[in-house]
Amino acid sequence: MSNTWLISGANRGIGLGYATQLLAMGEKVIAGVRDPDNAESLIELAKHYKPLLSIGRLDMNDWDSIDSFAGNLEEERIDYLINNAGLYGGSWTEDSHRQSADSMDYELWEEIMRVNVIAQFRLTRALEGSLMRSDQPLVVMMSSDMGSIGNNDVGQSYAYRTSKAALNMIARSLAVDLRERGIRVISMAPGWTQTALGGWTATWSVEDSVAKQIKVVTALGPEDTGRFLNLHGESVPW
Ligand SMILES: NC(=O)c1ccc[n+]([C@@H]2O[C@H](COP(=O)([O-])OP(=O)(O)OC[C@H]3O[C@@H](n4cnc5c(N)ncnc54)[C@H](OP(=O)(O)O)[C@@H]3O)[C@@H](O)[C@H]2O)c1
Repeated sequence: MSNTWLISGANRGIGLGYATQLLAMGEKVIAGVRDPDNAESLIELAKHYKPLLSIGRLDMNDWDSIDSFAGNLEEERIDYLINNAGLYGGSWTEDSHRQSADSMDYELWEEIMRVNVIAQFRLTRALEGSLMRSDQPLVVMMSSDMGSIGNNDVGQSYAYRTSKAALNMIARSLAVDLRERGIRVISMAPGWTQTALGGWTATWSVEDSVAKQIKVVTALGPEDTGRFLNLHGESVPW
């Protein structure tokens, strides 16, 4: 039996990479995107994988959008929730000055915390019923090496770093709080990946990063809940 994967921010970058590879594997994908009418790559995929792919409107900066997106999925079973949608505020290679110690865009910081942190909690909670329809549901919080406090020897990127560190705390707490309901929750650091966010000089192609992540997340057992993993399946220091 195929699994159902819900992927937020699935219209480009890592999210689109997940959708593309999972559909090719025969998995069912629910894609949450801000602008479904202009999600050209997904619309193209839908032509080939019609019954397997559904596309819904999801703006993670809008609580009503999150609630109505999740409400439409009440009858669905979700095996994997990939909480992937997120922002840096431009690209890490070009736009880090907007969140440096000397020059901070506070409005951007607020937006990043809303989308990368609070919205991830809200969507996960709203989808709890659909996750509980699965035998072994897994929530993957798309975190970052930049969310690691222990590995931070570089500084800067205050807005993004604090958002991913906070997301990690949510992942860990939800892993505890949802354990009794059988829902596993992990944080994933996908590696520095060639996307608009990561910049095009990054280490990993989307294809390689996502292939490795899929291998890791599909091999996890119940005991892995609450871990912070990288794309090799290794633990990342909190
Ligand atoms: N690339 C890296 O090196 C790297 C490293 C570590 C972690 N990550 C994490 O991986 C995830 C995906 O990043 P990416 O590199 O694939 O970036 P990306 O190419 O910039 O894609 C970001 C995705 O998030 C969506 N998104 C942003 N704000 C949203 C909102 N308010 N509501 C709904 N969707 C929203 C975007 O939708 P639109 O197209 O509508 O803007 C897009 O689909 C992020 O959480 C990021 O922090 C990336």
